[in-house]
Amino acid sequence: MEQKLKNRVGIITGATSGMGKAIAMEFDKEGAKLILSGRNSERGNELTKAAKNSIFIAGDISKPETNEQLVKAAIDHYGQLDFIALNAGILGLGSVIELPLDTWNTTLNTNLSSIFYLSKYALPYLLNSDIGNILINASIAAFKSFPNHPAYCASKAASIALMKQMAVEYAPKVRVNAMCPGPVDTPLLWDSAKAFENPKKAVENVKKATLLQRLGTPDDVAKLALFLISKDSSWITGTSMTIDGGIMNT
Ligand SMILES: NC(=O)c1ccc[n+]([C@@H]2O[C@H](COP(=O)([O-])OP(=O)(O)OC[C@H]3O[C@@H](n4cnc5c(N)ncnc54)[C@H](OP(=O)(O)O)[C@@H]3O)[C@@H](O)[C@H]2O)c1
Repeated sequence: MEQKLKNRVGIITGATSGMGKAIAMEFDKEGAKLILSGRNSERGNELTKAAKNSIFIAGDISKPETNEQLVKAAIDHYGQLDFIALNAGILGLGSVIELPLDTWNTTLNTNLSSIFYLSKYALPYLLNSDIGNILINASIAAFKSFPNHPAYCASKAASIALMKQMAVEYAPKVRVNAMCPGPVDTPLLWDSAKAFENPKKAVENVKKATLLQRLGTPDDVAKLALFLISKDSSWITGTSMTIDGGIMNT
């Protein structure tokens, strides 16, 4: 069967863990050439051994220069850029009263400004691709509130607004969409549970609250990412797709 991303070049942020890692492996299987981003060089370099056509660039995505460097690496190494998958994210836990200003700023810069930065530097090249594509990994937290997650919820909601704005501005050349996962079994989910008194029970409760009675896996989300990046979704833009085991419908 033909590979869905054969010789397509893309950047994946937050590729060193959880969903980003699963997206990298799924896209590698489908023939993509990848620039992988994260801060942890050990995990990043390990991943490049598994994803054959990939390069890892370490750096803090909340800084504009890191994003500029990722785009430059794609052009220098592969000579083109077809898609960016904006997946890196942090929680920045704490109530509005308690949240340090630093945490608010870091969370907004990591979850939201990084999307602006990477899109800004990548768009001139995406506009030259016949499948230019931007995919944001947002969250159901864009639509639903969680205690002690003010910076997270605000950044995810704003990322959906930015996604819609870019979909309008850069159509028809570039498609722009977002995924909104519910609870997915990654290190971030377990960190998120720390906002509750009994984290283990909180994860068990959230699992039971899904209609499908299980947590999502990183692979569940990677499959949706492949659909939204590939030509299979060629008539979809400006959309946020929930992937949540049905929890938003309870
Ligand atoms: N898990 C869930 O239930 C869930 C639900 C909805 C949405 N999401 C969203 O899905 C995305 C992926 O989350 P995950 O659950 O897979 O989390 P994860 O396993 O904790 O992975 C987060 C990734 O983001 C990277 N990252 C964080 N801050 C960074 C920074 N300043 N610079 C560069 N890279 C940075 C991390 O890289 P390093 O460790 O190398 O720094 C890591 O690769 C996030 O945007 C998250 O908000 C998660």
